[in-house]
Amino acid sequence: MKKINESCGFMTNKNLIDLEDMTTEQIDKVVKKAKKIMQNPADYRHACDGKILATLFYEPSTRTQMSFQTAMLKLGGRTIGFDNPMNSSVSKGESLKDTITIISGYAEIIAIRHPVEGTAMAASLYSDVPLINCGDGGHLHPTQTLTDIVTLSCEKGRLDNLKIGVCGDLLNGRTVHSLIKTLAKYKNNSFVLISTKELSVPIYIIDILEKNGCKYEFSNNLAEAISDIDVLYMTRIQRERFKSEEEYESQKNVFVLDKEKLDKAKEDMIILHPLPRVNEITVDIDDDPRALYFKQAQYGMYGRMALILLLLQDEDFLIKSRNADVSEHKCNNPKCIIHSEDYLPKLSYNKKGMVMCSFCDKRID
Ligand code: CP
Repeated sequence: MKKINESCGFMTNKNLIDLEDMTTEQIDKVVKKAKKIMQNPADYRHACDGKILATLFYEPSTRTQMSFQTAMLKLGGRTIGFDNPMNSSVSKGESLKDTITIISGYAEIIAIRHPVEGTAMAASLYSDVPLINCGDGGHLHPTQTLTDIVTLSCEKGRLDNLKIGVCGDLLNGRTVHSLIKTLAKYKNNSFVLISTKELSVPIYIIDILEKNGCKYEFSNNLAEAISDIDVLYMTRIQRERFKSEEEYESQKNVFVLDKEKLDKAKEDMIILHPLPRVNEITVDIDDDPRALYFKQAQYGMYGRMALILLLLQDEDFLIKSRNADVSEHKCNNPKCIIHSEDYLPKLSYNKKGMVMCSFCDKRID
């Protein structure tokens, strides 16, 4: 408990839970560092000699897990971890707290993915080393956004004055939420939100767009919306987050980017996708020069190399602590980690007079 209170008292730390906690200057610093690494990778071959990254993946992943592992290996470090918690003592009922306490005694840095919202924040309370959120349920996925930002900076040459179309599952897609929140901070970006009514962006994202004075419009027609956008960010319909198979069936394949639609797009529009893809982009588009989603995954590895270096080696690279006061109120979001790890303290913060859960950011009624 002492540890928790201390953690809550820190104004800054070395954990990346939400990209919102990083300033645009810090994001730009990651991008700049990633570009330097891309230009001269040999210069960084021994940058993390003797250091260990632990990748704790309680949920499946190809890109995030392996790009973090590759990033550390390319920096000269080594990796430990699991990609199936059932092969660890989690299968015997070990708590998140105990797992993190143990691993933070073995590794210099931890990357964690978990299907339950708020897990990264909860884990950070018990880690003595920098901890990176690699996705916590439908909540946040900050290093995917860093990947997207590095890609945009390299491929469009700017992070401002862009018209960005986001398409697909805008309700459950944590990557979309994080991307919109980040790009809204840069000058003169506007958004086209392409989805069905059922899968449109949560209201808090609209609040952020309004607060930042960003132009935005809704669309349910990809063929129409595609004609004047600079970036098309496609997303998968997140089957695993639906309550029933019927609901998923009614939403899948509503928006599919094919050659016919792409013909209506600008010559310099770029197509991004956090991947994995299911059916939402037809494979015959993969060879189009505008299709950058595979290259995007490679940019992600450089972004993660830059992040590891900054967290481990730059003493000034401190990230704002999340707001968290010990609270009377328990979060009532059934998807929040507070319900599955019952020793966790109730932590909340105030936002415009509302009490919000510090783990999952949902309003506590
Ligand atoms: N984009 C992404 O998070 O991919 P993985 O689920 O394969 O890590």
